[in-house]
Amino acid sequence: MLLDVGTDETHALGYKQVDDDPNVGVLIATMDDTADWQATRQLHAWERSQLSLRSGQRLLDVGCGLGDAALSLAEDLGTGGEVVGVDASAEMIAAARGRADGATCRVRFAVGDALALDEPTSCFDAVRSERCLQWLTDPDAAVAEMARVVRPGGLVSLLDTDWSTFELNVGDAELSRRVSDAMRSERHRPSNIGRRLAHLARGVGLRPVAQTMATQTWDAWSPDESPAPGGCFSMSSLAEDLVERGHLPARDRERFVSTIHTAAREARFSMALTMFALVAVSPTTGASGR
Ligand SMILES: C[S@@+](CC[C@H](N)C(=O)[O-])C[C@H]1O[C@@H](n2cnc3c(N)ncnc32)[C@H](O)[C@@H]1O
Repeated sequence: MLLDVGTDETHALGYKQVDDDPNVGVLIATMDDTADWQATRQLHAWERSQLSLRSGQRLLDVGCGLGDAALSLAEDLGTGGEVVGVDASAEMIAAARGRADGATCRVRFAVGDALALDEPTSCFDAVRSERCLQWLTDPDAAVAEMARVVRPGGLVSLLDTDWSTFELNVGDAELSRRVSDAMRSERHRPSNIGRRLAHLARGVGLRPVAQTMATQTWDAWSPDESPAPGGCFSMSSLAEDLVERGHLPARDRERFVSTIHTAAREARFSMALTMFALVAVSPTTGASGR
C-alpha cells in the first residue's frame, strides 16, 4: 500500500474499525513505526524468552495487525509448528499474509473477532495479544476467549500501552498538566489497560508468572518532516481530543498545536509513554503445566 503520511496533519490513530477509517494507510504505517520503538523491541525480546516456544508448538496472536511479532515468534516453532494470527481488519490481514512468505512453520492469518474467536477450546500452546485490548468494548471477554483457546498449562502473553502514563514536555507546565489530566481519564477506551493486565488475567483464572514494563521516549521530532512523532498521533488530533473531552477550550486549539510545534523545532520537546507486558499460565488440573 502506498502512503503519504506527511500529508495528513490530523490523524488520530483509532484501531477499533481500521478498514472503515479514511486514514487506513496511516494506521498501517504507524504499526511499523511502533514495532520499531525501542520499548516495543525490548518487550518483544522479553516476551520471546518468557514464552520459550518449542518446535512443533502452536501460537495464536489476537489482534495481530501486520503479523510481524507473530512471524518473529514463529521462528521458534520449527517446521512442525503453526502460527495463527487473527485481526478484525481485512486490510491488516492482507498485509500480514503478504509478510508471511519467509516463515518456516505453517502460517494462517484470518479476519476474526477477539471477543468471539473462531478457534477450538484448548488448542494453542501459547496465545498472545499486543495493543489490542485497549481498542475492545470488553477486554475481559477477550482475555476470557484467550484463556479458553490456550491449553491447560499453556501461556498467555499480554502487551499493552498505558496511556495514563503519557507525558508531553515542551517547557509549558500548564500544557503538560492538561495533557496528563486528559490521558488519565477514559477517552473512548480504557486509558490504563496496561497496568490492568494482571487483573484481567486473574479475572479469567490465569496465573501471572512474569510482568515487566518499558518506557518509550521521544527526545526529538521535526513537525516539518512528519505530522506526528514516530508511531504516535498528530498534535492536531491530540488538541481535538482534548477539546472534545473538555480539557482544552476550543479557542486555544491552534495555540496548543503551535506551542508544541515551535518547541519541537527549537529542540524543547520530549514525550514518554510506558507499555506493560504480562505472561500468565493457564491452570492445569494435574501437575505443573510449563
Ligand atoms: C494498535 S493495533 C496493534 C496491532 C499489533 N498487535 C501490533 O502490536 O502491532 C490494534 C489491532 O487490533 C485490531 N482489533 C481491533 N478490534 C479488534 C477485535 N475486536 N478483534 C480482533 N482484532 C481487533 C485492529 O484491527 C488492529 O490491527
